[in-house]
Amino acid sequence: MTELTHGSALRIDPARLGARLDALGAIGAIAGGGVCRLALSDEDRAGRDLVVGWMKALGLSVSIDAIGNVVGLRAGSESAAPVMTGSHIDTVRTGGRFDGNLGVLAGLEVVQVLNDAGITTRRPLAVAFFSNEEGARFSPDMMGSLVYVGGLRLEDALASVGIDGATVGDCLQRIAYAGPAACGKASVHAYVELHVEQGPVLEAEGFTIGAVQGVQGISWTEFTLLGVSNHAGTTPMRLRHDAGYVACAIARYARQIADEMGGNQVATVGAINLFPNLVNVIANKAVFTVDLRNTDEAALQAAERRLHAFAGETAAAEGVSLSSRPLARFEPVDFDPDSVALVEATARRLGLSVKRLPSGAGHDAQMLARICPSAMIFVPSVGGISHNVKEFTSPADLEAGANVLLHTLLQLAS
Ligand code: GLV
Ligand code: MN
Ligand code: MN
Repeated sequence: MTELTHGSALRIDPARLGARLDALGAIGAIAGGGVCRLALSDEDRAGRDLVVGWMKALGLSVSIDAIGNVVGLRAGSESAAPVMTGSHIDTVRTGGRFDGNLGVLAGLEVVQVLNDAGITTRRPLAVAFFSNEEGARFSPDMMGSLVYVGGLRLEDALASVGIDGATVGDCLQRIAYAGPAACGKASVHAYVELHVEQGPVLEAEGFTIGAVQGVQGISWTEFTLLGVSNHAGTTPMRLRHDAGYVACAIARYARQIADEMGGNQVATVGAINLFPNLVNVIANKAVFTVDLRNTDEAALQAAERRLHAFAGETAAAEGVSLSSRPLARFEPVDFDPDSVALVEATARRLGLSVKRLPSGAGHDAQMLARICPSAMIFVPSVGGISHNVKEFTSPADLEAGANVLLHTLLQLAS
């Protein structure tokens, strides 16, 4: 490996990485140590401006594309497709400081280490952050990276309506991040993303590094039920068309599906809205989401079939009308075996314990995997907590993960 003779002693600066995480985490900071930087909000814009400023200060040439993805490019000694790293800086409404942000800021730290050491890699190196990875405001999740790889038409992404009624296109204009670069024609040699695990496995089993084998399939559906409002006291049970009751029955059944299927099947009803949402009025409308995930595509399809069959039967029995629309649907993704092996070997070479594992969360890397060999590096999440203000990864683990990223990128770019 060329890199062994050229830069193998390089290490990232944990204090500098921590300082950038703190500064970005201060934008949209919320009680309890978390962050609210929903995609394309004012807070997202302020976070973007900060990271773009850092990119420019590090000498990266920054390009912004029409869906607001930002790529900072560091030239190589040859003009070739870049080796890319990155992630996202949008958060859920009650997010932590590490989800996504770590991958982007560790990428900048890698650039700074190489700048300070005067190293020019053979291939260019790119650090990217992709728009609306979370999908908490606009569907689908991983929107920016999906458009980037040509998996979703720009017009369709721009037309996506958020939970607050705003469109992606209008919000991108408002925050001035609808850039001139074209989407969907990217040429990337390889992609590696550092991310917090967001689950309990690494911590529970005592590993420092996860070499991520793939990402489970994701199925998001929004259901809308229309019933009839009436008086909660006077309406006999047999005469009700209660949208709230049907919503709750479906939510309960989603859990039952996961319990009965076992294995990797998970099910979540994370958003539910009843109308008019009053104590003594039968709900005439319910809008709610179901998030189903599984590492096995056939099993995920079986879960979807069961859910929709039950929803139809239960709505019909109550005399409530049912409609649904998919918010996101991604099949399970396997990462490139050679890239996974490279992450694993690099961690071992740095003296770090490493375990192969699948990702339960969605990631931009699963979209980049459509156009280039891709892999991910996980570091432990304390208590397996994420999408929660208490999300935490120890400074030592952040440092370890960033060093694995540095040396994985060096090898890929050599
Ligand atoms: C997105 O990050 C998800 O996994 O929900
Ligand atoms: Mn993330
Ligand atoms: Mn997330």
